[in-house]
Amino acid sequence: MCSPEYFAVSYEINPWMDAHVPVNRRRAVQQWQQLVRTYESLGHTVEFVEPVRGLPDMVFVANSGVVIGGRVYPARFRYAERRGEEGPYARWFDAHGFVSDGEAAFVNEGEGDFATVGDEVLAGFGFRTDIAAHDEVRSRLGADVVSLRLVDPRYYHLDTALAVLSDDNVAYNPAAFDASSQAWLATRFPHAIVVSETDAAAFGCNAFSDGHHVVVPSGAYEFIDALRARGYDPVPVDMSELRKAGGAVKCCTLELREANAR
Ligand code: ARG
Repeated sequence: MCSPEYFAVSYEINPWMDAHVPVNRRRAVQQWQQLVRTYESLGHTVEFVEPVRGLPDMVFVANSGVVIGGRVYPARFRYAERRGEEGPYARWFDAHGFVSDGEAAFVNEGEGDFATVGDEVLAGFGFRTDIAAHDEVRSRLGADVVSLRLVDPRYYHLDTALAVLSDDNVAYNPAAFDASSQAWLATRFPHAIVVSETDAAAFGCNAFSDGHHVVVPSGAYEFIDALRARGYDPVPVDMSELRKAGGAVKCCTLELREANAR
């Protein structure tokens, strides 16, 4: 995770961002700290990367890369505004023992567009990540990758449209995907929780699950009820400030799969 110490909405690279809407950085920090405490209280270990002044979106550390089995596929951002984040993330991964094969050849925004479900990786494209990067993840991380096309600019990263709930189930907002991706999802995950447009707009899909607890933006009411009904334990958190930049729980979280060499 990365503190929103320098968080701001000073440019607009997704439909949620409005540089004229004031951001309360103190509140952003408080909400983020609450998220850190939530993870720690659930027994997770949180590692931190130092925020960098002038990189206001660095709090969205999910975009730093994809980590599987101690190997990292590093991000290569779509927009110049975020490309400065690549260096600090790469140095962090290196210093913490994660192996990479060097810079990514294709544009990709890390876990923002790659979601691990058991042994399979679901990969979004259409707005940020180049579909050619899906092949790079396949070859570098040895993962089975399924490409899903995103079609609604408000749900520009896969993690704004789909949440992994367990090794074999997900929740998603169908309208964010094209018809063939919707059909594939419906067949592959017959027990998926379908997230309504209202809950998706509350960033409900931008949730983090450990298989039982699901840390989820607090405004996604119906989704929270549905999680409970399915036996999950939802943990709602207020992410209203960070949402002004088009991010919430999952965006602020990169999962470090398999212990690093510290
Ligand atoms: N303002 C950031 C951007 O548009 C938000 C990134 C959200 N991250 C995510 N994993 N969805 O790049």
